[in-house]
Amino acid sequence: MRMALRFVLPLLLLLGLLSWAAAPFVGDLIERWFRADVEMRSRLVFHSIQETVVGLVEAKADRKIVQLFERITLDERVLALALCLPDGRLADASKSWPRDYRCPGEDRPGPSFGVEHLPSGSVLSAVFPLVSAEGETLGRLVVLHDLRFIERRSSSAEAYLAGFLALLALGAAVVTVLVARLTLRGWVRAVRRGVIEPAGTLDGTDHPPEVAPLIREMRQMLRDLETPRAISEATRIAWGPDSLRGLLRDELPGAEVLVVSNREPYIHNRDGDGIVLQRPASGLVTALEPVMRACGGTWIAHGSGSADPDTVDRDDHVAVPPDAPCYTLRRVWLSEEEQNGYYYGFANEGMWPLCHIVFVRPVFRAEDWDQYVAVNRKFADAVIAEARTPDPVVLVQDYHFALLPRMVRDRLPEATIITFWHIPWPNPEVFGICPWRKQILDGLLGSSILGFHTQFHCLNFLDSADRFLESRIDREHSAVRSGGHTTLVRPYPISIEWPPAALAGVAAVEECRAQTFARHGLAPSVRLAVGVERFDYTKGIADRFRAVETLLDSHPDWIGRLTLLQVAAPTRGRLAAYRDTQAEAEAAAERVNARFGTAEWQPILLVARHHEPEEVLALFRAADLCLVSSLHDGMNLVAKEFVAARDDGDGVLILSTFAGASRELREALIVNPYDVVAMAEAIHRGLSMPVEQRRDRMRLMREMVAENTIYFWAARMLLDAARLRKRRAIERNFAAVSQRRAPRSEPPRR
Ligand code: G6P
Repeated sequence: MRMALRFVLPLLLLLGLLSWAAAPFVGDLIERWFRADVEMRSRLVFHSIQETVVGLVEAKADRKIVQLFERITLDERVLALALCLPDGRLADASKSWPRDYRCPGEDRPGPSFGVEHLPSGSVLSAVFPLVSAEGETLGRLVVLHDLRFIERRSSSAEAYLAGFLALLALGAAVVTVLVARLTLRGWVRAVRRGVIEPAGTLDGTDHPPEVAPLIREMRQMLRDLETPRAISEATRIAWGPDSLRGLLRDELPGAEVLVVSNREPYIHNRDGDGIVLQRPASGLVTALEPVMRACGGTWIAHGSGSADPDTVDRDDHVAVPPDAPCYTLRRVWLSEEEQNGYYYGFANEGMWPLCHIVFVRPVFRAEDWDQYVAVNRKFADAVIAEARTPDPVVLVQDYHFALLPRMVRDRLPEATIITFWHIPWPNPEVFGICPWRKQILDGLLGSSILGFHTQFHCLNFLDSADRFLESRIDREHSAVRSGGHTTLVRPYPISIEWPPAALAGVAAVEECRAQTFARHGLAPSVRLAVGVERFDYTKGIADRFRAVETLLDSHPDWIGRLTLLQVAAPTRGRLAAYRDTQAEAEAAAERVNARFGTAEWQPILLVARHHEPEEVLALFRAADLCLVSSLHDGMNLVAKEFVAARDDGDGVLILSTFAGASRELREALIVNPYDVVAMAEAIHRGLSMPVEQRRDRMRLMREMVAENTIYFWAARMLLDAARLRKRRAIERNFAAVSQRRAPRSEPPRR
């Protein structure tokens, strides 16, 4: 309507002006035409009666002249006729001759015409000299014509003209609006198709040529938004809590941040009559906790501590960190049955070995799967309950919640869901073992962005989606399109806080070394290697014990001079595979110690208990060498923490080639943990390495971790999320415009 008015009003105005300006000319023109016509009629009248009148005048038949005049004035246009004598007197006239109208005074040789304005209206007087056959002037014949009809006609003509022009304006406006609307609708559809649905080609065949350049430009713009340019931009900033907060404020204004993970960042446990706070041994928690401290928001996690229910409010909220609260922990309670099925069963006996490929057979049970589905739904409900806006940024963590992204997407279609998979993603052959592979893939593809530690895992995921799901894989942009929704699949190598907050509470290197040596009764001449992990079969703990054994066999000069202090936090102890891992490692340590140990010296010290972050950092600072021999690991943050702990610039890192960290920490001694001989050699090499080389390597690794901190990890994901939200906003605008134009077009896409 607005568009129609925009066309019609100016057109009407223009044509109104035109008709106003043209009307006098038209009236004048019409008057002149009709006057010429009337003059011609007078001549006709004169010529047709001239002879008769001359005859009658000569015969002095005045009555007949009047009768003749009366007959002629029957014609409605001829008002009156009169015969004027040469001296100007009126001789004979029709009855209609205006009483006060006198004969024209001048005696002209030829006919003359003039317009007179009588009280009754305008008349044309046509005066013709009346001459006898002999050439004698008998008088003048005066024909009066009524000119009022001309005025009437000219004003009707003006009215018709104005009406016609108005109609013309209206018609032209309607046609213009129709053509414009149809063209616009076609363009909007074409642009929308070309921009939103990447299936369209731009070779000019299926788009109007007028919009093809626009589509091309917009596609480029959207592609730019998708390109991981965030990396290059983000590297220019030294990311920290402040810049991350700034990013949220500027790029995601008003966005609500919700994190979902199984493991909670703070566990309250009962200890006698009191409550103790524990920070779990979890790479995920180590990484995400500083981000949450910077961003604020709500972290939804399983309340697993024995005193957790006693420390929450009635909404199951607790403000954390307890000493300086800056975000909310929302605890979700799980029954024994749920924990057994979802956590121990499907997540840790199914998905964990499936993804890690360390030759521990994954176990898939239907009842575990049912619990996994139910618990994912329970956490999705918690997300919906916590969300205060329709479009929160939801950061979903890890293999415990593969179904949750889709569940949240269905209920909060506008949410930006970033799922990060903290463990490896296997190749399609291995992934295909899972009986619920389709549901897992579909669940994850509810995410806006799906992140892995390495490009290799991203490719494995794309291959799996390609193999098992109805989907379109866009390898150029690393995206999967399925069910009308696109998920970007991106590598975001996770990292740690720099410097780790816990380092502030840790003593100087020398002091740490002295304390550790004293605590474990180590002689000052002993070189100390450390290993810190959960007691997990993926960590290759027994393998590194075997490597130490091999080293002592092949380089016996290390006997009595090297101790491996292995700290291992018991984990997932309800599962046989974990109990076996611990038993196997303990047996291996015992065997090596029995073979080489003495009363004063043990080659392996195994401490199977949880250590708080400060203790771990102190251990790293005390050591000559850190051993990370994971058989398979998404990233492995222990390696990065060791590097971060060494602000003295010393220390050697031996790192498994199967840990994601080996892609970044290239100055570590990279080893194949399945090859104990090579690992033993690496330990030997590490312990024998000249100090300059140790320092050079450590410096490069520290630079790497200092640049690629956990804030950088979060910033890259949030920058990509911000770009995505901008892209969606553009798409929504298109959808809204085209829906307004074509009410029956498709619903807007997410
Ligand atoms: C890995 C997983 C995390 C998990 C952590 C500890 O790092 O990726 O999701 O939290 O191990 O395992 P747990 O089962 O004790 O949480």
